[in-house]
Amino acid sequence: MLFDTHAHLNDTQYNEDLEEVIGRAQTEGVSQMVIVGFDRPTIERAMELVERYDFMYACVGWHPVDAIDMTDEDLSWIEELASHPKVVALGEMGLDYHWDKSPKDIQKEVFRRQIRLAKKVNLPIVIHNREATADIVEILKEEEAEEVGGIMHCFSGSPEVAKECVKMNFYISLGGPVTFKNAKKPKEVAAEIPLDKLLIETDCPYLAPHPYRGKRNEPGYVKLVAEQIAEIKGLTFEEVAQATTQNAKKLFAINC
Ligand code: NI
Repeated sequence: MLFDTHAHLNDTQYNEDLEEVIGRAQTEGVSQMVIVGFDRPTIERAMELVERYDFMYACVGWHPVDAIDMTDEDLSWIEELASHPKVVALGEMGLDYHWDKSPKDIQKEVFRRQIRLAKKVNLPIVIHNREATADIVEILKEEEAEEVGGIMHCFSGSPEVAKECVKMNFYISLGGPVTFKNAKKPKEVAAEIPLDKLLIETDCPYLAPHPYRGKRNEPGYVKLVAEQIAEIKGLTFEEVAQATTQNAKKLFAINC
């Protein structure tokens, strides 16, 4: 049984064929998934989905690219949602220096406010990092995010940074890129980080694994990520599937 720890089935790209996508995920052995909402519309849709499907859980937060749009009301709303039994984490939050819609200082402030909220409501956090590793690590340390821990989502950094994050109580989540032939760092991370600190995800509809690279991604493809990790680590697919699912349930405090 597989656990896709990061899926955006709340994206409008699934409006037409959501049931088929879910059916294929179940055929591939995906038993649970976390739906990530990162602004008003995607959080609302994520909550609709988790109310409807018992195997879906929600992660709610504010994306760094849109940090400039986040109001006090938005943060209060996220705090209210945090007490919902199916909200298992806050995020995705973090820093994204690739796009310049939100200035860095605003991104940092919105990131810090969400870490503080997570500590207040005692939920793990899901980190989005794009071209901002040093600042992310510094803020996680300064805010003592270790207290709640969480996930470095779709991790693309070096094994050294991965190990530093593990020390701060974070799991390293690998997605489609670990299957790309030219993806040196994710493969090194898969080799060097112990299985009890790894998670798998799709980040669908983005980052589809080989051989679907460039196409719309979906939770069923998380199987390809688990297979690739198994190959790199010299383990069976079942070992990787079982361990990563256990890790996810432990982090999200899911007992079923
Ligand atoms: Ni995402």
